[in-house]
Formats: sequence, C-alpha cells, structure tokens
Amino acid sequence: MSPRTVLVTGAAGGLGRAFALGFAARGDRVAVADLDAAGAAETADLAARAGAAATWSGKTDVSSVDDTTALAAEVAAFGGGRIDVVVNNAAVYAGLHRGPLEEIDPDEFDLVLRVNVKGPWLVVRACSPFLGAGSSVVNVASATVFSGSEQWLHYVSSKGAVLAMTRVMAKELGRREIRVNTLAPGFVLTEASFGHLGEDAETYGVERGALRRSSTPDDVVGACLFLAGDDARFVSGQTLVVDGGRQFL
Ligand SMILES: NC(=O)c1ccc[n+]([C@@H]2O[C@H](COP(=O)([O-])OP(=O)(O)OC[C@H]3O[C@@H](n4cnc5c(N)ncnc54)[C@H](O)[C@@H]3O)[C@@H](O)[C@H]2O)c1
Repeated sequence: MSPRTVLVTGAAGGLGRAFALGFAARGDRVAVADLDAAGAAETADLAARAGAAATWSGKTDVSSVDDTTALAAEVAAFGGGRIDVVVNNAAVYAGLHRGPLEEIDPDEFDLVLRVNVKGPWLVVRACSPFLGAGSSVVNVASATVFSGSEQWLHYVSSKGAVLAMTRVMAKELGRREIRVNTLAPGFVLTEASFGHLGEDAETYGVERGALRRSSTPDDVVGACLFLAGDDARFVSGQTLVVDGGRQFL
C-alpha cells in the first residue's frame, strides 16, 4: 500500500491521537494539528517513533481562516502538493458545561458551533485545492445525534450539523472523485470523557449497548481507517456509527 498524506485535526490526544497513530502504523505520512501545540508535537513524535513521516503545526485554531489556510499549505507542502486524507476530529468536547437547555451559556453555544461546525468546513475549504481524485474526508460527529443526549444541546446540535454538512461536501467534492463521510463514535473512554463523568465513565451506557462494554479510542480507529481508505472507495455521504450497538436497542 502506498503511503498517503493524512491530516488529523484535534490530534493532541484522545481519539485524534489514536487516529493519527493508526494511519502511522499503516505507513502513511501524518500531519497533526491542534489548538494544543505541545500535545500535537507529542503525537507527531509518537508517530515518528512508530516509523512514519510525521509533522505537526504550531498552535492551530480550526475556526480561524488564517490558521486553516496556513495549515493546508503546510500539509500540502509536506505531501508534495497533495493531501490524500483529512480527518476533521477537532472539536470542543472536553470541559463543556452540561445542563438543561435553559442553562446553556449562549456564548458557549457560539463557541461550540464555531469550532465544531465552522471548523471542519474551514479545514476542508482550505484543503480543497490540494485534494484530488481518490482523496477522502472523514468528519467526526457523534452518536449523540441519534440518541438526542440530554444536557448537551449545543454539542449535540453541532454534531448534527456535521452530518448535514458531510452530505453537501460529498455531493460537491464527489464531482472531483473525492469522498466525504461521517464517523459517529458512541461514548469513548478518553481523558475528556473521564473529565465529564469521572469514574462513572467506565460504566456509562454500557447496559444500553449490544456489546455490553465501554469503548476505548482503539475501538474506533479501524472504522476511521476504513472510511478514509480504498476499501470504502464507493462509500460517500454516509454516517458510520461506532458505538457497540447502543443506538438500535
Ligand atoms: N470521547 C467520546 O466519547 C466521543 C464520542 C463521540 C464523538 N467524539 C468526538 O471525537 C473527537 C475527539 O474527542 P476526544 O474524546 O478525543 O476529545 P478531546 O477534547 O480530547 O479532543 C478534541 C481535540 O480538539 C482540540 N481542539 C479543540 N478546539 C480546537 C480548535 N479550535 N482548533 C483546533 N483544535 C481544537 C482539543 O485541543 C482536543 O485535542 C471530537 O470531535 C469529539 O466531539 C468523542
């Protein structure tokens, strides 16, 4: 398999880091970006230690036009003028305040929409000139969209918009043979999830799942690699839910 140039946003830790290392293990060239520049550098270092060509960008805000423009140019240069895969994973998730809809702070609502919705659009907008036939985009949403999880109105709404946006992107970019799909993980045990639920994270929702266990980032990596890669060459505009069978029960 020939190495591809892959950009993973929000890859300072958690799922983004797991995705980046999954591509690295496959032999891809990995570029990572995050608001947390030190964490992104650490991920790139881990990818390099796994034998992959890896690079990281300084502090990158995916909701900034300037940052995403500079990022795309940098990644394209790293990829010899082409970007093969974009994984839009960056989002405001860690540290979000949960509460009933009457208590959600309107400023936090704006932040969540700006980063989680405008961010993926700006990243794809900036990368578009460097994507070509066979390139693909994976937009990370969440299975919360289907369960309508309470106390998260801003977050759940933002991830619903990611699904909708993916379909538009799939149609527009599909004319250039570029695929765009949504990956919708269920609850995953990342540092951010422990930050929300503490020790309860270990058992959260387990009884509602077909597989009756919690998931770790490694449980989601394969689905991301699948959507990004040639095995999914006729899959576009779709949403792949990776939640251990919680949504259909
Ligand atoms: N952990 C879960 O249970 C779960 C479930 C479904 C979906 N998700 C989604 O998966 C992704 C990763 O989640 P995670 O659990 O690893 O959480 P996380 O909070 O650790 O990951 C998000 C990353 O995005 C970065 N980020 C935030 N704002 C940014 C900005 N403006 N510009 C650039 N980077 C920014 C953060 O620094 C962080 O590294 C997110 O999109 C999240 O919504 C997580």
